[in-house]
Amino acid sequence: MKIVMLGAPGAGKGTQAKKIAEKYGVPHISTGDIFRANIKNNTELGKKAKEFMDQGLLVPDELTLDLIMDRFKQDDCKNGYVLDGFPRTIPQAEALTKALTEAGEKLDYAINVEVPDENIVTRMSGRRACIACGGTYHIVFNPTKQEGVCDACGGGLVLRDDDKPETVAKRLTVYHDQTSPLIAYYKGQGILKDVDGTKDVAEVFNDIVGILG
Ligand code: AP5
Ligand code: MG
Ligand code: ZN
Repeated sequence: MKIVMLGAPGAGKGTQAKKIAEKYGVPHISTGDIFRANIKNNTELGKKAKEFMDQGLLVPDELTLDLIMDRFKQDDCKNGYVLDGFPRTIPQAEALTKALTEAGEKLDYAINVEVPDENIVTRMSGRRACIACGGTYHIVFNPTKQEGVCDACGGGLVLRDDDKPETVAKRLTVYHDQTSPLIAYYKGQGILKDVDGTKDVAEVFNDIVGILG
């Protein structure tokens, strides 16, 4: 099963992708998580990516494409994957379509998690993220059992550097300009499924399972 998650920053792509990955036994591939791991480890890629991410801007397509194409070659991608945060521009989507077509493969679904901009800032300010495993929580809407500790791996939770309100506003603008055109792109491919992302985490997941079967 090959799935792309679409949606604004904070729509719940990562939260749902993780649950999909567990239920369907496919890897959760988040370009944002990969960049953050590189930043934490102070790699060359991390240094370059950080400049853009801290401003709420997209990392250039060249850097992102090399990284993701490498990731697809790993063994765990044999039975598919759930992509979260990639593709994010039309050129990235076209590169993905081309790579899949060349391999005789195709995406099954693009799941578009719809949440209005007004709800996003509240979600971001309460978000807590686990750098170790990519687990995502919310102090009110999706709290951990023990404060500050990841339920899944016991790692410490952090606030993301790009979750400041002014950076969130920039990310929303970038989303509407550069990423939302992917909704029409995947509608054109006949694989777009919209879900209402304002429902609670479990209800959104139920709706997604209803689509994936
Ligand atoms: P990325 O890490 O992908 O961030 P994003 O798209 O901005 O999305 P988020 O991770 O902020 O939100 P999400 O939709 O995953 O929501 P979450 O589940 O956490 O990218 C970060 C940066 O990296 C980009 O700005 C860019 O610079 C760079 N980048 C990454 N990929 C790139 C690419 N392909 N090309 C170029 N640059 C790239 O949920 C948010 C919060 O809400 C959480 O606290 C959660 O607990 C809570 N929540 C979730 N669902 C619900 C619900 N139903 N009800 C209530 N609360 C909920
Ligand atoms: Mg995310
Ligand atoms: Zn964790």
